[in-house]
Amino acid sequence: MSKNSDHPIRAVAFDAYGTLFDVHSVMSLAEQICPGRGEALSMLWRQKQIEYSWLRAMSGRYKPFWEITRDALRFAVARLAPELAPAAEARLMNQYASLSAFPENIGALRELRALGLPLAILTNGNREMIEVSVRSSGMEGLFAHLLSSESVQTFKTRDAIYDLGPQALGVPVSDILFVSSNCWDAIAATWYGYRSFWINRTGAPLEVLDTAPHATGSLLTEVVSYARERLA
Ligand code: LAC
Repeated sequence: MSKNSDHPIRAVAFDAYGTLFDVHSVMSLAEQICPGRGEALSMLWRQKQIEYSWLRAMSGRYKPFWEITRDALRFAVARLAPELAPAAEARLMNQYASLSAFPENIGALRELRALGLPLAILTNGNREMIEVSVRSSGMEGLFAHLLSSESVQTFKTRDAIYDLGPQALGVPVSDILFVSSNCWDAIAATWYGYRSFWINRTGAPLEVLDTAPHATGSLLTEVVSYARERLA
């Protein structure tokens, strides 16, 4: 972890998919539907979902993240399991609508709240998608703000979406800790001006982008100790 810096932490903003909600909880269903290819299918699905969001952000072609998620699944199925019936697509999309939370998350979020920090979700997800995920994972009532790509009609890594954090939380961006399990997202938030924390759950290498997140850990509970030491 990095050393204490000059800026206190006054609020925390979280990425949603992969950080709060386990996108690979669809893997076991994918494996049932498509034995031997479940892991590959769920990985390609996620990779394409992110790739399509970048392409659409770059070219000004917004479409709700839920629809992008379906498009990405169609690509992954066409590539890895073309024989799958449309019913399998519906089952996987339903599963995506109610992703599990990572086990330590709810306790960690409660502890951050107990420190007096306002919490937000800052996500590519469209509003309905994110509201359903928050409800189905038992996280209702923990967040002061659900900040969605839908209000700016573009995706990360555009400034317009990272703008939502300081606007809603009403504190300088340097005093907001942005937490993401996507290294590219943590780095882009650092470029924008946030204090960043990368949750590296899988032991992935650092993206080679000339910038590192301010801190790295493997569980959300580590964010609690990091924030506790840096309160205003
Ligand atoms: C999100 C994606 C990037 O929630 O995980 O914004």
